[in-house]
Amino acid sequence: MARILLTQRLVPGGADLLEASGHEIEFVRRTSPMSHQDLVAKASDVDAIVCLLNDLIDEAVLASSSRLRVVGTVAVGFDNIDLDAAARRGVAVVNTPGVLDAATSETTLLLILAALRRSSSAELDLRAGRWSGWGIEQHMGLDLGGSIVGLVGYGRIAQAVAARVQAFGASVIHHTRHPTGVAGWTESLDELLERCDVLSIHVPLSPSTRGLIGPMEIQRMKPTAVVVNTARGPILDEVAVADALEAGRLWGAGFDVFDGEPTVNPRLLAAPNTVLLPHVGSATIRTRREMCDVAIQGVLDVLEGKTPPNLVNA
Ligand code: DGY
Repeated sequence: MARILLTQRLVPGGADLLEASGHEIEFVRRTSPMSHQDLVAKASDVDAIVCLLNDLIDEAVLASSSRLRVVGTVAVGFDNIDLDAAARRGVAVVNTPGVLDAATSETTLLLILAALRRSSSAELDLRAGRWSGWGIEQHMGLDLGGSIVGLVGYGRIAQAVAARVQAFGASVIHHTRHPTGVAGWTESLDELLERCDVLSIHVPLSPSTRGLIGPMEIQRMKPTAVVVNTARGPILDEVAVADALEAGRLWGAGFDVFDGEPTVNPRLLAAPNTVLLPHVGSATIRTRREMCDVAIQGVLDVLEGKTPPNLVNA
């Protein structure tokens, strides 16, 4: 029997697989991360950790238990986990690929449409009593149909976004470092930035993608373009986006993720034509439940000596 630490409360039913596993489970019944010191202490005698994306699983946590064999994160992104330190210690890491593609791509579509149509400012005007009646030039936006959507990255979520925007009549180009063999692949990121009407980011956060879209990249974009980020905040320079929005060098922007969450850069909060969501990309009831199951099953597999399909660090 193994000892498993669950760092935070999951969604209803999300811990069922753990409860039925026969292992000894330490439930931390919090809805926010515990302090790093507490996490290190709690992890000190466990064989496995099930964590959330806002738990920092660094060298100190990984080193705290000599028995630790696996960390399962209830997220597809794993930038909160020090993979090198995990590899050095022979700790497996599992995540939740696949089950959140639909929900996250739908959130992306929500932000694309809201940014193109500037729906947040229209709603704010209405709620503030500034709407005096229908007018032919009020709150005009841009069409998704007929536009070019540029995807940075072409993994599962990007492909799900591609299918959805194509259904709206947009065409899709995408940039990855290596050719995908799929029509629309664009070797040059600069070319994609110059051509697209909608830029949507779908790469994981890593040292090579941190700051990938900065002021120079934003400057290449059309003034009628919108930028959407549902991946990770530090990939996109928020101040560069705020500068461009204030100067009228971008049409709009949609963010679901932020650099330094849960703090949101005040420049972004004050910038015009933004749609800002509090990291809800995968937040549907079904998806969050499935994410719990996938992460926990991966952890149980590793404890049984199996290689789970969602192993991040082979
Ligand atoms: C993830 O799983 O990495 C997402 O950011 C959660 O919404």
